[in-house]
Parts: sequence; structure tokens; C-alpha cells
Amino acid sequence: MRALVVGNWKMHGREKDLARLPHLARVLAENGPIGAEVVICPPFTLLREAKALSQGVFGLGGQDCSGHPEGAFTGEISAPMLRDCGASHVILGHSERRCAQRESDSCVQAKIIAALETGLVPIVCFGETQQQRAQGLAIETVQRQVQASVPLLAGQSLVAAYEPIWAIGSGQTPDAAQIAQMHAAIAEGLQDKGFGGAPRVLYGGSVRPGNAAELLATDGVDGLLVGAASLENAAFLAIIERANALAR
Ligand code: PGA
Repeated sequence: MRALVVGNWKMHGREKDLARLPHLARVLAENGPIGAEVVICPPFTLLREAKALSQGVFGLGGQDCSGHPEGAFTGEISAPMLRDCGASHVILGHSERRCAQRESDSCVQAKIIAALETGLVPIVCFGETQQQRAQGLAIETVQRQVQASVPLLAGQSLVAAYEPIWAIGSGQTPDAAQIAQMHAAIAEGLQDKGFGGAPRVLYGGSVRPGNAAELLATDGVDGLLVGAASLENAAFLAIIERANALAR
């Protein structure tokens, strides 16, 4: 299976920042067929234009969606709206939303259901805090998150992302054995939920060009969820190139 490399722009990006996308699309098209599937998740406001600039070479995703298809929910964006703007994927349950927006597991579950009903591929994040790891609770934490936030899948599929909260934006990453162990725990939890086939589990948290090859070569890592390093073409393309090199 090709590695999936997802760029999460978070709350970065205005109209002027779209200027880098034609170059990105050109380089990816010239290097094709590539060993990585690429999805970019810009802010909602840029999705439609980003889609037009993608030339079909990379996919687009939202960074969140509502658990409701429509209604009186001021400020919310629904899964059908994302689809309408050209998104094929949506990141759900990111720790920045679980923590800062106090999103519960049941709230994440409603969002996953809404995304699946709309035909979007959910990219669902799981990960432990530094304290939970120090207390030996890392595996238990992600197992509980999978159990409580993933609906019964009945053959449907989603993408999971292991994102240790302490690794996000910190420059620190778990070692290969820790990542392999966590990915196996997440994959097992998804299988218990009726996942059809082998779950795809991405790693996210301080992915950089310098560590991407090692992370991608780690057991159970099917791709990368990239935050800060997705904000510049040079770094993002270098990460994608690491996935291409491994596929060759
Ligand atoms: P980072 O963010 O790559 O900047 O650590 C990853 C994420 O939060 O998805």
C-alpha cells in the first residue's frame, strides 16, 4: 500500500499562501507515479481554491467537521459542506480539538459517523500525554480512545493517526519500538470495531525531513500526518520524497 502523507496546515494560511500549491502540484505530477498519496488539509476558507489548484494530483481534507449534517449550529462546518468544497478526507479528534475545544470521545464518534455517511475518509487521531506515558498508561489510553470514539465500522474504513500529544510541535518523537507498539494497539482496537481489512495507521508529531525516512520505515507506520513541516514546499516535498524513495 502506498504511504499516505497528510499536511495539516492548522490555523495557518490565507489567500496569498495558495501561491505555493501550483508548484507543489507540478513537482508531484512530474515525479509520478509516486510512492505516496498526498492529502492537504488547509483551513476551511481555502479548500475550494486549493482543490482547483490541486490538478487532481493531491487530495484535500478538512481539519474538523460537525457531527450534524445541517441545522442551527452557528459557526460549524458539516461533512457535506466539506465535500461540496472538494474535500475527500477530514481530520477528526485531533488533540488540539480534544483539549482546547473539550471534544469528548462521543463527540468525535458523532463526527466520524457524519464523515462516513458523507463519503469522506476520516483521519482519526489518538495519542497520550507525557504524563500518561510516564505513568505507563500510553497503550491503555489509546486503546480507550479507540474503543470510545470509533463507531462500529461494519466493513467501513477510516485512517487512524497515532499522535502522541507530547510529540506535537515539540521536536521530540517516540522511538521506533514505542511507535510500533502504539500502532499495533490502535490497529488491534480498530479490528475489534469491525474494520474491513488492515487498518492504515499514520504517525504524527514533529515529523521533519530529517526523521521522515526512519519513521516511515518503522513497523506499522503507513504514512505521516505532518503539521509545521507541511507549511513550506521544500520541507513537505522532502518528506514526500522520503516516502517515494522507500517505495522504489
Ligand atoms: P507537528 O504537528 O508536525 O507540527 O508536530 C502535527 C499535528 O499536530 O498533526
